[in-house]
Amino acid sequence: MNQVSVININSPFLDQKPGTSGLRKSTLKFQEEHYLEVFIEAILQSLEDLKDSTLVVGGDGRYGNIEAIEKIVQICIAHKVQKVIVPKFGLLSTPATSHLIRKENAIGGIILSASHNPGGIDGDFGVKLNISNGGPAPEIITNKIFKASQLLTSYKICKIQLPDFCQYGTYLYDETTLEIIDGLTDYSNLMEKIFDFDQISDFLKKDYSLIFDAMNAVTGPYAKNIFVEKMGLAPDCVMNGNPLKDFGGLHPDPNLTYASHLADLLLNKKSYSFGAACDGDGDRNMILGSGCFVNPSDSLAVITANTKCVPGYKDGITGVARSMPTSSAVDNVARALNIPCFETPTGWKFFGNLLDSNLITLCGEESFGTGSNHVREKDGLWAVLYWLQVLAEKKCSVSDLMHNHWTQFGRNYYSRHDYEAIPSNIAHQIFGNLTSMLENLKGNSFAGHLVKVADNFSYIDPVDNSISENQGLRLVLDDNSRVIVRLSGTGTKGATLRLYFEKFFDPQQNLSLNPQIALKPLINDLDALLNISKLTQMETPTVIT
Ligand code: G6P
Ligand code: ZN
Repeated sequence: MNQVSVININSPFLDQKPGTSGLRKSTLKFQEEHYLEVFIEAILQSLEDLKDSTLVVGGDGRYGNIEAIEKIVQICIAHKVQKVIVPKFGLLSTPATSHLIRKENAIGGIILSASHNPGGIDGDFGVKLNISNGGPAPEIITNKIFKASQLLTSYKICKIQLPDFCQYGTYLYDETTLEIIDGLTDYSNLMEKIFDFDQISDFLKKDYSLIFDAMNAVTGPYAKNIFVEKMGLAPDCVMNGNPLKDFGGLHPDPNLTYASHLADLLLNKKSYSFGAACDGDGDRNMILGSGCFVNPSDSLAVITANTKCVPGYKDGITGVARSMPTSSAVDNVARALNIPCFETPTGWKFFGNLLDSNLITLCGEESFGTGSNHVREKDGLWAVLYWLQVLAEKKCSVSDLMHNHWTQFGRNYYSRHDYEAIPSNIAHQIFGNLTSMLENLKGNSFAGHLVKVADNFSYIDPVDNSISENQGLRLVLDDNSRVIVRLSGTGTKGATLRLYFEKFFDPQQNLSLNPQIALKPLINDLDALLNISKLTQMETPTVIT
């Protein structure tokens, strides 16, 4: 019998409130004595039937990953969890975790990641709970965890020596079995079921050049397994392919600012036909063609319009969903296909019920996330393979595909402006100012149009009727242009203000404008209304996508 210790702490932690995607804090915060352990204790208290259950535990390899996994396994043993599954080296992407939870009928999974935030001792760390459907825990559970964490003055742990996680194996500790497994195979087998790897690899070998940027994060081994080992492409098609604790200093967020090296290769040097990148934990993606950036909202629309090209979706799809700030490009496709299109708040967890009840097959967000009912997370490599399959089937370039799409459906010009890590009081002041103006804005003129809707978005889940309020301020104009203002729920420093702009041009209008030009009236009028540049003392946003 291994000794279970009950560790007492002086006073409870009051700041363990999960945000958009789990508890995310600086690495240093998580290094504080008992900080991680208490949150894990709170998570385990939120789960029922641990004694008959399997739990999956893995992470994106950032600083603290293995040490956290060790502690979690020790706490699980103390709680008599029946089985804990850990991937070799502790590396498991978020979509692969989601798949493993489903495949193993696990009660859930604990993902150690701060997603696209930088890692290392000076970066961020995070803990996320996914539930038995494979998706992020809904708010009702994260609230329960937060409540429990605030009351905890002790936790249970079994401080025994564990094997290092470099080899496969099964170990028994009292009532708990620890299984160290291969984190790659299940996932790449799933991809092989959805996509035609032979068709993609023939296409890539003959007509196309691919570069995939894993940003020194978790997708490196998965991409090598799929593109190099399974499809037989040259190893150098994967760059930054070794997961590093600090992501080699990169900020593993696949956008034009933080994946600028890849953007330069595709957009300026035009060295490859197709480029893609994923984030720290592998759920986000960015798609680029030679000279062409694909906006994530457009990516969802293209994916929805081309299901016939992909074996896994040939039989049709039931519906689609997008988060509120995501552009309405996919709505146009859904209308043409005569399928429902749901509008949810920001956060993948809101897609869970829709996917579980088969109301939707595909979903996506402007924040570089797209996915389907194959798992309950967004899936970066899935999106990359989806695009490659469509291109292989159509034998065309990314820019041709985009242009043909807009010619058929029209173009929703779209851009997001982020003011990152600004003082919290300034961000709240701007947000508060707009909130108090909403009532008066209705019926007034904005960017040359009348304001049709001015509200704070709220959502009633059509499956369980739960209500989520305060999900972002939005102005909808009489031409359906939209301006949305949100405060990020994933940052760890100060506050991040996000502004989203959208304007629809029908196929007869100019479809080749720079989005910043097409959206200028909206951008300028919002700044005039809220004094954003003055209050933030920033002439331009930190990131523009
Ligand atoms: C995470 C979630 C996404 C969400 C995004 C929003 O990546 O998984 O579902 O869209 O955060 O982040 P934000 O910083 O805008 O709250
Ligand atoms: Zn992520």
